[in-house]
Amino acid sequence: MSSVPTSSILIRGGTVVTAEAEYKHDVLVVGETIAAVGPWLDAPAGTRVIDASGAYVMPGGIDPHTHMELPFMGTVASEDFFTGTSAAAAGGTTMCIDFVIPGPKQSPLEAYRTWRGWAEKAACDYSFHVAVTSWSEQVREDMGVLTRDHGVNSFKHFMAYKNAIMCDDETLVNSFKTAKGLGALCTIHAENGELVYVLQKEIFERGFTGPEGHPMSRPPEVEGEAANRAIRIAEVLGVPIYLVHTSCIDALEAITRARLEGQQVFAEVLAQHLVIDDSVYQNPDWDAAAHYVMSPPFRSKEHQAALWRGLQAGMLQTTATDHCCFCTPQKRAGVDDFRKIPNGTGGVEDRMGVLWHHGVRTGKLSPSQFVAATSSSCAKIFNIFPQKGAIMAGADADIVIWDPAKTRTISAKTHHQNIDFNIYEGMEITGNAAITLSRGMVVWENDQLQTVRGRGQYVNRPCFAPFWDTQARRNLQDTRVPVVRKT
Ligand code: URP
Ligand code: ZN
Ligand code: ZN
Repeated sequence: MSSVPTSSILIRGGTVVTAEAEYKHDVLVVGETIAAVGPWLDAPAGTRVIDASGAYVMPGGIDPHTHMELPFMGTVASEDFFTGTSAAAAGGTTMCIDFVIPGPKQSPLEAYRTWRGWAEKAACDYSFHVAVTSWSEQVREDMGVLTRDHGVNSFKHFMAYKNAIMCDDETLVNSFKTAKGLGALCTIHAENGELVYVLQKEIFERGFTGPEGHPMSRPPEVEGEAANRAIRIAEVLGVPIYLVHTSCIDALEAITRARLEGQQVFAEVLAQHLVIDDSVYQNPDWDAAAHYVMSPPFRSKEHQAALWRGLQAGMLQTTATDHCCFCTPQKRAGVDDFRKIPNGTGGVEDRMGVLWHHGVRTGKLSPSQFVAATSSSCAKIFNIFPQKGAIMAGADADIVIWDPAKTRTISAKTHHQNIDFNIYEGMEITGNAAITLSRGMVVWENDQLQTVRGRGQYVNRPCFAPFWDTQARRNLQDTRVPVVRKT
């Protein structure tokens, strides 16, 4: 890893936005960190001054859910760690939390090492959730090693993808208990994989072989059941959980109920689930419909409206992309059978712009809520705040200078993502990254990428022991005592 020469940048006259407030302040960056935030800061000699008047100065986005170069469904995601983190920077995102997913018979630790190797080319900072796809003493041991020695504080559980990476309840329970003991967070892909498997077969046999069969086999109830099951298992075991890509009312209701009862349940929504509906699967052009095959699938507009309300009300705390790119020829692996279309869509470059345009400009979200939803809440939930997700002295200088008047028409012709289509093709958005800084280095300016292969660093995420102890204590405070019966 080459280190950058110490340089300083003064961002002058912008409106600093944090998850709490907006204020007119300057931001001084020295080297890789923020040195000061305040009014009328002096610039040391040799400092580059960036005029940010009329712009917002916000923490660089953190995408808590990406899959760069993931081997999946017989192919490999087309975006690698360099192209993916570069595209992210063009859209104002400066950190991704990607997923280590062990292959069959591969141990979590071995898989983690493999992903660390692949990610060495990343241009911006990154971290890893590690998936638990089966249960054994080796997995238990690796979870301990990963949390203690490798800065992993979250484990992923896929309740779908039967005969591949799906966890059964035994694995969920064992992993949740282990994570609790370690102070790690359990994350969940909530879909009932058994039901999906049966529905896929039935729907295919009824003659629905094209992309329209995909959402039919994964209705909202399938997600709602799994979300509720995971939440209830977590409740019984007294362990906090985080649901990824919440896409429907059914899952949102389970999350809302649990949160209102005081359970530690966190949840994410994807930008694309907020703005794209399930009509995309009815496109008579097979390729165009297949481009939207991802899980959970796109839903009807009533689900979208509910997701926006969930985000506004704080029931959903983070926004992500599940960036998992498969180009058109890769999607065509399922041309005769929708079950074989690699699941995944892209969008790491577009998340912040789409959310600003459809969220902030419509008045659904304030700029502070936008910051919470695009970086700060993620940093807090995954225990890297205020190193990330903050504009304050001492934080990493991951900053986006956001031009609220900058307009862009999203297109595969102009995007920086390594994929031959864009799910938002033709969408005009106002509000875009003017300049992006990744640990003090300008990586996006004047619509040009200046990222450096391999400059991204792995971000350690310590476990949450004190917080989790509180939860454990709460469970211990249960005043019920066993009934003593005379025999
Ligand atoms: O369709 C999707 N979401 N593909 C990536 C794997 C996952 O489920 O997150
Ligand atoms: Zn998933
Ligand atoms: Zn995913």
